[in-house]
Amino acid sequence: MTVAQRGAPLFVTFEGIDGSGKSTQAKLLAERLRRDGAQVVHTREPGGSSGAEEIRTLLLTGDPERWSAETEILLFTAARRDHMEKTVLPALAAGQTVISDRFADSTRVYQGATRGDLRPMVDQLHRLMIGREPDLTFIIDMDPETALRRGLARKSGEDRFEDFGLGFQETLRHGFLSLARDFSDRCVVIDGNRPPEAVASEVAAHYEARA
Ligand code: ADP
Ligand code: TYD
Repeated sequence: MTVAQRGAPLFVTFEGIDGSGKSTQAKLLAERLRRDGAQVVHTREPGGSSGAEEIRTLLLTGDPERWSAETEILLFTAARRDHMEKTVLPALAAGQTVISDRFADSTRVYQGATRGDLRPMVDQLHRLMIGREPDLTFIIDMDPETALRRGLARKSGEDRFEDFGLGFQETLRHGFLSLARDFSDRCVVIDGNRPPEAVASEVAAHYEARA
């Protein structure tokens, strides 16, 4: 049986610190499933719809101190709401698999656990405005020093969060690992410190087991 013939389409997310290889893995999984005959929407956050892409620019460029953590939570949630309405929910309703490079777990960790304990606020807004979790989440785990080197080498111009430095990335890593324990029914931790093809094979094996 091919992936295209299986049950309800899955909402899959990739999470992890900056430079961990999430985007690479999201793309590889999307390509693999399409080769298998599945209809796949490959998207990202912040962004994934035209309104959310505009909010992305506000969030990811400029001075690291540009927004307070509270304002960031509102902007990320606004972007996510638009992404859900315009891209994710219509695709799932049409029977397509959705693969998103980041989703709500990023807000839980980046805004909820790094600058004071804002997690209750993140959770309240999520319940109020989003109200949906992914079916399967891959957390690509990496040593922050290597990941930061990889991420900054890209010179994307969207480095506002990388610019918070190594200690921040270490806090994030532990935040993601703790989240994986809290949501163990949908989260799979993958060792990202290996060649991309090795990481991709493990991701695909977990996906197959879940689809
Ligand atoms: P993220 O989306 O997590 O920030 P990317 O997938 O954009 O990470 O990868 C960051 C950089 O590291 C890119 O230049 C990419 O080509 C490279 N990269 C991705 N995965 C690996 C890997 N497994 N090993 C070495 N380099 C990698
Ligand atoms: P992304 O483009 O995935 O960056 P990278 O490829 O460096 O991992 O995400 C952009 C940045 O936005 C990233 O530093 C994480 C941050 N972010 C949050 O702080 N909160 C969120 O809810 C999301 C979705 C992203």
